[in-house]
Amino acid sequence: MPMPRLFQRALSLPAIGSPMFLVSFPPLVAALCKAGVVGTFPHVNARPQPQLDAWLTQIERDLEAFRASNPDAVVAPHGINLIVHRTNPRFEPDLEVVVQHRVPFVITCLGHPAPVVEAVHAYGGTVFCDVTSAEHARKSMRAGVDGLICVGAGAGGHASSQSGFSLVREIREFWDGCLVLGGAINDGWQIRAAEVLGADLVYMGTRFLATKESQAQEDYKQMVVDSRVSDLVYTDRLSGVHANYLRPSIERFGIDVDTLPPKAPDMSALTNTEARLWKDLWSAGQGIATIHDIPTVAQLVERIAAEYRAACALPPSAALAKPVR
Ligand SMILES: Cc1cc2nc3c(=O)[nH]c(=O)nc-3n(C[C@H](O)[C@H](O)[C@H](O)COP(=O)(O)O)c2cc1C
Repeated sequence: MPMPRLFQRALSLPAIGSPMFLVSFPPLVAALCKAGVVGTFPHVNARPQPQLDAWLTQIERDLEAFRASNPDAVVAPHGINLIVHRTNPRFEPDLEVVVQHRVPFVITCLGHPAPVVEAVHAYGGTVFCDVTSAEHARKSMRAGVDGLICVGAGAGGHASSQSGFSLVREIREFWDGCLVLGGAINDGWQIRAAEVLGADLVYMGTRFLATKESQAQEDYKQMVVDSRVSDLVYTDRLSGVHANYLRPSIERFGIDVDTLPPKAPDMSALTNTEARLWKDLWSAGQGIATIHDIPTVAQLVERIAAEYRAACALPPSAALAKPVR
């Protein structure tokens, strides 16, 4: 399946470190790129607005210096996630900054990607759209995106209730472009499984949240390590949109999430400066089942790459009556 030129022979793992509100800051983005994994961040993490220009300059300079002193290293491109939602006052000014910096990779979410596709294609950049259903994928496809990111059930942040197994195969019935799968993917075995399923790349959030370079508070990282899947709650009662949260982070505030009244969808926590929801009530995906440490990004990527190589060499099932040709 077609891999955009930007990513061809450019990565040490077929993976994107997904954008995470209040978690993906320049140190995490740069560490991911230096390890050969696409590093991204949500534009609203850079605040106030003029910070965005400063962040992009910092990431560009850091990667440029690293490339110069490590000419043989695989350095992945960086990217930004733009919230294309009518309630987001940062969308237009931030798109201008993205164009000025010619950010190589742009991910859109929550709105129609067409204006971003036009602006980013004009300078040769690559645009992917984050989708949680086949219906949403069809709309984004018509806007001319270069790739679709489908985020299945069990993901951190706003997750679909549809299994990734179902979502990938459903989207593959009508989309033969680059497809990324996200949701509870932590290791090399899962990356290989996603490729066999029909994905070209994977989208990994929660696993990179628990790394030294992530901006998440130390207690948050530790809660990810200490929690089990039964500690997660998938609810729309906090923001009006379904997301996975760590229940212990909510209960600390005496909130009983099971008895909260319904709430209208509200993206303002992501777009205004009052970010209490994501700052204090922490999100994580089902990947927590196998997260037991807080390594550096480089250590983690090295481990995942070894698992991936082992998974690529797996023999066919011993249950088969005849050998696979
Ligand atoms: C703490 C947290 C914050 C997130 N913030 C955003 C965000 O601002 N924008 C976005 O598009 N996705 C956001 N996501 C979703 C991720 O980009 C990605 O879809 C998800 O992490 C993949 O699933 P995984 O966490 O199971 O690996 C967030 C996820 C987490 C865990």
